[in-house]
Amino acid sequence: MVKNVSADLVVVANRLPVDRVELPDGSKGWRTSPGGLVTAIEPVLRANEGVWIGWPGGTEEHLEPFEQDGLHLVPMTMSQDEIEGHYEGFSNATLWPLYHDLVAKPAFHREWWEAYQRVNRRFAEKAAEVAAEGATVWVHDYQLQLVPAMLRELRPDLKIGFYLHIPFPPAELFQQLPWRRQLLEGLLGADLVGFQLSGAAQNFVRLVRQRVGHKTHRDLVYLPDGRTVRAAAYPISIDAAGLEDLVQTEGVVKRSAEIREALGRPRKVFLGVDRLDYTKGIYARLRAFGELLTEGKLDVDDAVFIQVAVPSREQVEQYRILRDEIDRLVGRINGDLGEIGRPAIHYLHSSYPREEMAALYRTADVMVVTPYRDGMNLVAKEYVACRCQDDGALVLSEFAGAAEELRQAWLVNPYDLNGMKQALLDAYRADEKEVTRRMKAMRKTIKQHDVAAWAASFMTELADVPGSHGKTLRPPRDS
Ligand code: F6P
Repeated sequence: MVKNVSADLVVVANRLPVDRVELPDGSKGWRTSPGGLVTAIEPVLRANEGVWIGWPGGTEEHLEPFEQDGLHLVPMTMSQDEIEGHYEGFSNATLWPLYHDLVAKPAFHREWWEAYQRVNRRFAEKAAEVAAEGATVWVHDYQLQLVPAMLRELRPDLKIGFYLHIPFPPAELFQQLPWRRQLLEGLLGADLVGFQLSGAAQNFVRLVRQRVGHKTHRDLVYLPDGRTVRAAAYPISIDAAGLEDLVQTEGVVKRSAEIREALGRPRKVFLGVDRLDYTKGIYARLRAFGELLTEGKLDVDDAVFIQVAVPSREQVEQYRILRDEIDRLVGRINGDLGEIGRPAIHYLHSSYPREEMAALYRTADVMVVTPYRDGMNLVAKEYVACRCQDDGALVLSEFAGAAEELRQAWLVNPYDLNGMKQALLDAYRADEKEVTRRMKAMRKTIKQHDVAAWAASFMTELADVPGSHGKTLRPPRDS
């Protein structure tokens, strides 16, 4: 590729599905970062010679469009000021805590809002530039909520979809935002606005009625210009079959055995895997585990906790505070309760390749996923996908979107420490039959609703929104 691109399908996301890496000869190159989103959209992107617009991270300028593994990628640049204002500021210190039930206090700064608008406009202009006549543009997530309206203004011929990967808050919280009306109007530029859960779609429609004053009926918003916008739920999922294959490869099976051996062959392994984010409830879950050890209900000879905390958004103050708090807590628990060669918690502040994650999921007897609020939580689904023997217990927060589908998990309220301790113990002590019954049911759910089905249902309904523009896309070649 790819100067003068003219694509029938354009994906717009804050990030590109590749990382910038240093090659052995010292030059810079790209490495695919295998996320669920790219796996899902790749077939339809290929069939339509689609392009993906996104930021590769960093401040590097003059990056040209390029092709990677057959995908056409268009890198966007951000200045240091824009990273601070748009990404770290408005996206991750204003919207992120506001949309996650105010787990942390959102900061409202006018200069962050300016940067957010500026970056959204640049993304919209780029999409307008590369989209063919009547193309479909699929915009992703909270960093780009103004793009749909900006893009529609530039290119009324396009079909525009928007998908929010994180929760959409109730009106009572959303209305704190000084720029609430502009964000709602930004989203209304789309023909279809997708959310993880139907409650979020309802929050949105209610806010549009109250704050923008448009007529609504069920999941439809009627705009004065005659356009209709649909708001509905499309719970995202994972590449279940891909993970199931991976977890059974020789390398992963061997690595899992090595991990258990290295842990000193404990009776049960507890596992937590999260980005190091204050919404994830890592502190509370480790505290609950620590108290069970202190009270003698668990013993370091029998039970060990592995917590993988993937470094994330490290320039944002709340994330730095959290890191210090977790460091201190883990130090205290291990100092008080560990023994030589047997720390209570194995704390890994790092990210790992897919193979290593699959080996960890294979090793874990109890998976602990306890966010205070989470759009979906794909870790919970990945764990289930990896349990090919129908064993393994999942302890899951009621406040993760995944809890709407994974009803057979041990569901917990992460604010209730005693309740969480009890659930950890119940999952630890559950008999094999009970664990298998629950896991079988969850695996059935995961297999029926994988990420390909998610992408297909969104794209199909986007094509069908009444009164929307744009031409029909070609289906993936291999379907
Ligand atoms: O869950 C929202 C999300 O933006 C994901 O799309 C992404 O993988 C994750 O958070 C990490 O985000 P960031 O781009 O801030 O590293």
